This record gives sequence, C-alpha cells and structure tokens, in this order.
Amino acid sequence: MSNYHIKGLKEYFQVYGMAVDDPEQFWEEIAEENFVWRKYWDSVLDWDFEKPEVKWFDGAQLNITENCIDRHLNHHGDKTAFIFEPNDPSEAAEHISYKDLHKRVCKFANVLKSKGIKRGDRVCIYLPMIPELAVSMLACARIGAIHSVVFAGFSSVALSTRINDASCKMVITSDGSYRGTKKVDLKVIVDDALNNSPSVEDVLVVKRTGCEVVLKEGRDEWLAPLLENSSIECIAETLEAEDPLFILYTSGSTGKPKGMLHTTAGYMVNVAYTFKNVFQYKGDDVFWCSADIGWITGHSYTVYGPLINGATSIIYEGVPNFPDWGRFWALIDKHQVSQLYTAPTAIRALAKENLSYVEKYKLTSLKVLGTVGEPINEEAWHWYNNNVGKKDCPIADTWWQTETGGIMISPIPFSTPTIPTFATLPLPGIQACLMDEQGKEIKGNRVEGRLCIKFPWPSIARTIWGDHKRYKDTYFSTFENKYFTGDRALRDATGYYRITGRVDDVIIVSGHNLGTAPIEDAINEHPAVAESAIVGFPHDIKGNALYGYVTLKDSGLSIDNDHLRKEINLIITEKIGPIAKLDKIQFTSALPQTRSGKIMRRILRRIASGDVDNIGDISTLINPETVKDVMDNVLL
Ligand code: WT7
Repeated sequence: MSNYHIKGLKEYFQVYGMAVDDPEQFWEEIAEENFVWRKYWDSVLDWDFEKPEVKWFDGAQLNITENCIDRHLNHHGDKTAFIFEPNDPSEAAEHISYKDLHKRVCKFANVLKSKGIKRGDRVCIYLPMIPELAVSMLACARIGAIHSVVFAGFSSVALSTRINDASCKMVITSDGSYRGTKKVDLKVIVDDALNNSPSVEDVLVVKRTGCEVVLKEGRDEWLAPLLENSSIECIAETLEAEDPLFILYTSGSTGKPKGMLHTTAGYMVNVAYTFKNVFQYKGDDVFWCSADIGWITGHSYTVYGPLINGATSIIYEGVPNFPDWGRFWALIDKHQVSQLYTAPTAIRALAKENLSYVEKYKLTSLKVLGTVGEPINEEAWHWYNNNVGKKDCPIADTWWQTETGGIMISPIPFSTPTIPTFATLPLPGIQACLMDEQGKEIKGNRVEGRLCIKFPWPSIARTIWGDHKRYKDTYFSTFENKYFTGDRALRDATGYYRITGRVDDVIIVSGHNLGTAPIEDAINEHPAVAESAIVGFPHDIKGNALYGYVTLKDSGLSIDNDHLRKEINLIITEKIGPIAKLDKIQFTSALPQTRSGKIMRRILRRIASGDVDNIGDISTLINPETVKDVMDNVLL
C-alpha cells in the first residue's frame, strides 16, 4: 500500500495509526518513494527537546528545485506549471510550462550568482503576485541562498526591520504593483526602507507598472537586461537536508516579528504529502490558492507543494472585487480550476455581495474547496458549500501555522466526513493533543484545552532567525515535550478538532496574524499618546477587527478627536502597514491595570465586544474605577 495518497476513512485510520506507532518509518517511506535525492539520509530523525533541536533526514543531499522542476521535464516538460492571471482581465493570462520555468529559474539563479549571491546568503523578495515572485524564490533555492519574502503590503519600516533582522544582501522588487484600480509604487517603499538597511548591496527591479523609478547607481538595476544575458543552464547546488530554505516572518505577542526558519528536506516532504492528500490533486487538475505568496500559505501551496507534485498552480495578481465581485468565479471558469483554497475572510466578503455574481458562472470544474487562516463560521461555510461547491465539493478546513510549514489538521476530502467549523482530524504523522493549564494532557473526547503537537513533524520551523532562545520560550517552554501552538481547541464526541481561538496576544484579522505589541508600540510613538491597548472584537467580514484604547498625555484633547484617530492610523500604516489599522479608537483617561502594572486586556476585550455583563472580578485592579469610565465611553 502506498500511503502517499489516502483513499477512504478506513485507510486514513490505518495510516494514521501506523504513523503514531512508528513516525520515522512513516515519513521515511514517503521520502523514499516520492523524491529525487542525491544522497540518502543517515538517520530519519534526531530530536532533542531540551535544546530544542530537530533534524530530519540528516545526511541526505538534495536540491528542492530539482524536485520542483527538473524531474518533471522528461515526461511533463510541456505541462503548465504556473498560470499567471493578471490584475486586469483584458491582459492575457500567461501559461508557464515546466520547461519555461526551468529556463526562467536557471537564468534568474545565474543573475543572483553574477551579483555574488552565495549559498547561505539572505535575499529579501518584495514583489507583487507576479511570476517573478515564484521564480526568484526558486532561483534562491537553486543556489542555496535563503529567501525571505516580505508581503508587498508591508510598509517601508516593516520591510526594513525584516531586511535588517536577517542582514539581507539583496532585495528583489518591482517598480510597482497593481491592486484592482490602485497602483502602488513599491520601489519608492524599498528606497525608503534602504535608508535604514545598510546590509543591502544590490537591488534587482522587475518592470511591471511602468511607473517612474530612481535607480541608485551601483546598487539598483533592472532585472530584464540582466536576465537576457544570462545562461539558461544552472546546475542545482547540492544541499544538505537541514540547509535553510527560507525565512518567513510572523507576528508574536511581543515586539519584533519572528523570522521562522524552514529547512530543506523535511519541509519538502511534508508540503508535498499534505498538498497531495488535502487537495486530492490528480492528473491535469488546475489548483488555485488565492493567498499571497508573501504568506506561508502561498509558499507551501502556491509554489512548493504544487510544483513538487508536478501540478498546475495559479498565480493571481489582483483582488476579489476587480473589475467586479465576480472575478474569482470568472477566473475559475476561465482556467477550469479544480481546487480553490482561500480564506474565510474572503468568503465572507464575497458572500455579502449579490448572489448573481456567483450565479453568472458555472463553476463545474471545481472538485475540492479549502479554507485556511482563521476559524470559518457556520454561515460562511454553508455559503461556500452551497453556492461555490454546489454541495458537491468537500470543504477542507485546514488548520496550520507559519511555524508548522504545512497543513496539520484537516479533513481528507472524499475520506473524512466534514462538519462545518471543524478542522476535523490531524493528518497522518501529526499527533495533536489538548493540554490543561496545569500542564496535564486532557484525554478523552468532549474536552477543550490548549492545542499542542506531540512529536516533531518534518516541516516544523527549526528556529527563529537569530533568536533561538525566543524559539524555545515561545513554543517549547509551556509544556514538557510538546510544541505549543498558541491556539485553543475543542475535541468533540467523535474526536474531531475545532479551533476556538488564540490564547495569547495575537489577533487574527482577515486571516492575518497580528501581534498587539507592535501595534501598540507604533501608536505610542505618537507624541500625544501616553499609553494604548489593542484588543480584537468580532467583525462580520474580517472575523476580528482591531479596537484601540488610547490614553492621551493631555486629557484635555476632546474624546471626539477624529483628526487624532486618523493620525494614529497613519502611524500604524507607516510602521506596519494598512492591514494593522484600527477599526475603532476610544480615547480613555486611564486603562485598567493589575497591581503589577499589566493592562487587563481580558476586560477591555469584553467591553469592546459589547459583553459588559461578563466583565468578571475587577477587585484585583489597582484602578477599578477606570472600568466604568471605559464602559461609559465604549464605541459599539
Ligand atoms: C494561526 C496561524 C496557516 C496559514 C495561514 C495563517 C489561525 C489558521 C485556521 C483554521 C482556525 C486557524 C490559528 C493559527 N488559523 N488556520 N483552519 N481554523 N484557525 O498562518 O499567520 O501563521 O497564523 O491562524 O490561530 O495559530 P499564520
């Protein structure tokens, strides 16, 4: 039995059980049968919880791009690897075959080499959703450079912080980007960032919007002429299993973003396996993950997972509502998409519009639907099921994280019966468990607790770049011998998991992971602000939106100060990006604090959600009188 592609619930339980009994054998079989290795491993897994250190397939040698591209050339060279669908539907879509991709990646890799980029160097990629984004990632991987993709919606300050954290030597960007009717001048943002990022020696610029750019002599160059003069052959570097593949930043509960480091072999095996099973990809299916490649979802399921499986994957440049709210559905019919993988926030936004936008299209090519990034509410699940899947496409509600590299808990379509709002069962090789606050495992069903993972799986992030202690503290210090996810979950009578939210100060807004601390830090830089606290509150489309409590230095400033509100959001946009803007800002005279000076976010969260009857005990506060004041002025 090949356990690479699961068929049926019975087989799932069999394979799952096997993987629990002998995880190493389970992953080893998958690794042996489905990839190109230049040298096999000496050991499957080395794991030390104390350090913590994890190594998968140690001793093995490989290049992930050989698995993504070269090995498909003989039999599937003409198959389309990427379909690029531009922002403007009147611009022709581009079909990039595996052969074309090979040439483009080799050329790009040669350009990187000519600029002195070597194995282990960090390259920052700040690009819109255009083919060069995927090509440049693969070009890095081809020569063993570590890519660090920064979502092109982040501000120059956020970009610069990320460049500096990893001391990137190069930035790859474009003149600008298209987002619906908007144009953003990305190169200007990069220029701004580079005023504070001295490690960058070279900037390669892709021409996309044709806007004017300033090229700094000796540092910046257009990419196209460099590519033209570069060879179409570039032998893939032989890399070690644990060589770093990429860094990707995610927010934490405190200050600096965490640069999660993923390595080569384990990540490859894990994303390949999960792509195949969760999306049930077959033959000539066309797969579309609508997430930006700047997030882990795009890394694993627009680029690496599909390519390793020789799939056709769509890169869509635009937004769901341009030229109108039917764009997603038009795209699905146009390219005969078989699998759609998107976020609950997108579904809720689409569901708010007139049904005629969906009904205009056939959507008969669809076979499997997926969601990711946040809990999907029942209403959105049914809308997706009824109107997009026509009750004929299983929905995979996939739970995972930037840190996990690949999907962890998800139904296997056509095998696992689905229930709305449940991510259902852990995939084979993943041992989920629930822990109580005393650090004991909660056994049995119909229980709720903190979601942990028991055994290291191949695509777990190996460290936080430059801060291994933070890695240990964040994920491995709460519970002995377990990876702590930061999420809460319940397990129902049948053993299905439902993710019920975060237990830390991370808020998921429109599927984006936002830490409260960096937003508060940004606000506190405003000269009029004394103190601030951010909490999440339920929002129809975004899932959660941000509510800011802000205490001003001069309490004489009117509480209706809209000008100040605008300025506060402007500062957030500057320091982080528009995704972190606050929906509501309440000016407060003081914030409820514990005796040790901690702001009581629990109370503020309840107030912002209109849940004032459940404020709970406030007697431990140093300033209980502030609670009434905050409640009296709440913006609901
Ligand atoms: C956090 C991770 C994994 C790709 C996108 C987000 C939340 C993710 C689900 C889901 C409920 C979910 C969790 C998790 N989350 N998927 N299916 N149901 N919650 O990656 O930015 O690292 O965020 O997103 O809270 O911890 P990320």
